[in-house]
Amino acid sequence: MMQIHPAGRLQLAVLASGRGSNFDAIYSATQDGRLDAEIKVLISDKPQALALQKARQRKIPAYFVDPGAFVDRSAYEKELVERLHQHQVEVVALAGYMRLVGEVMLKEYPRRIVNIHPALLPAFTGLHAQRQALEYGVKYSGCTVHLVDDGMDTGPIIMQKVVPVYDDDNEESLTARILEQEHQIYWQSLQLMAEGKLHIEGHRILVR
Ligand code: GRF
Repeated sequence: MMQIHPAGRLQLAVLASGRGSNFDAIYSATQDGRLDAEIKVLISDKPQALALQKARQRKIPAYFVDPGAFVDRSAYEKELVERLHQHQVEVVALAGYMRLVGEVMLKEYPRRIVNIHPALLPAFTGLHAQRQALEYGVKYSGCTVHLVDDGMDTGPIIMQKVVPVYDDDNEESLTARILEQEHQIYWQSLQLMAEGKLHIEGHRILVR
């Protein structure tokens, strides 16, 4: 059994492509002492991401790094890694970051990249997870915080939260119900990491 992170303040980066409500939730948890972490940098692959603006307002270093400006994913990720190093980042939280993470990032941050997915994995991976859940007709869905590995939404699970799916739900209402829980389990998962409590055994994460 291997500890994922020793007890101590997380030196965190957030990667986000969009509005950044999970970034908000993580940030507030660091501000009021629920989460022992410092957000050192925010990086986005989208110049218009609201998350970038929010980071700048909070005086957190924020960069748009254009994936289109690099020959391939490895070159793009080398640039990301360089910026993460510049800011002494030890753990990377993907928060609505709409790209697959490649081998350059994974090699640099093994078991140190965390993602949140709006479904109960391993069900409904990839895009539009809430729509997939509705169309399938599940009676419960939820969200998952997991470590990132080389698959799509396949890494070891840190925490999940279940929400009911009602007959009169639409994509919007289900998304909102799930999002409320995302905003809880993301900082809680990171705090377990900061407390040195997360251990990994095979594909299982155990809290000790
Ligand atoms: C969330 O639903 C998250 O689970 C998914 O993308 C969405 C991001 O929302 N990966 P936000 O940008 O954090 O508001």
